[in-house]
Amino acid sequence: MKNIVLTGFMGAGKTSVACELSRMLSMKIVDMDAEIEKEQGITITEIFARFGEQRFREIETDMARRVGSGSGAIISTGGGVVLKDENMAYLRNNGVIVCLTASPETVLERTVRSNDRPLLNVDDPLRKIKELIEARLPFYKKADLVVKTDDKTPLQVAEEIVEGLQWKR
Ligand code: S3P
Repeated sequence: MKNIVLTGFMGAGKTSVACELSRMLSMKIVDMDAEIEKEQGITITEIFARFGEQRFREIETDMARRVGSGSGAIISTGGGVVLKDENMAYLRNNGVIVCLTASPETVLERTVRSNDRPLLNVDDPLRKIKELIEARLPFYKKADLVVKTDDKTPLQVAEEIVEGLQWKR
């Protein structure tokens, strides 16, 4: 069975929607960032701080290659995975790509209380969110299915995905 690959900006709801999908479809979850943290033995924030974003991106690509070769999983990705064509080729190989979107304001509201996103650890996070979303939009738009998550529960989003994927899997 094909993987369902959840992409989208930080705070778009990938992790919570993955949980709902996993329950609804009885599929396992593979959370790429969680796997990276487990393997490296340190948090994503620490990887950024100690080795830099570039090194994180290399580790992320290696993880995309490995998780992309499996099957039957809901794969929750980090928000920047779409930036490299190589990552998306690995994930697309045996998966259907879903992108979750949210407005910058929604993203801010959902991420403001946690400080585990090094890219948003800046003086003006809303501005940074707007810049990054704008720059990444062309990449996010390449998904097979795009679902808006503003003002929806993770369950509503998961139901929309299941319905939307009926014709694509
Ligand atoms: C990133 C998103 C994060 C994590 C890292 C970089 C990004 O994952 O991979 O901090 O570049 O958007 P989430 O989207 O799960 O927060």
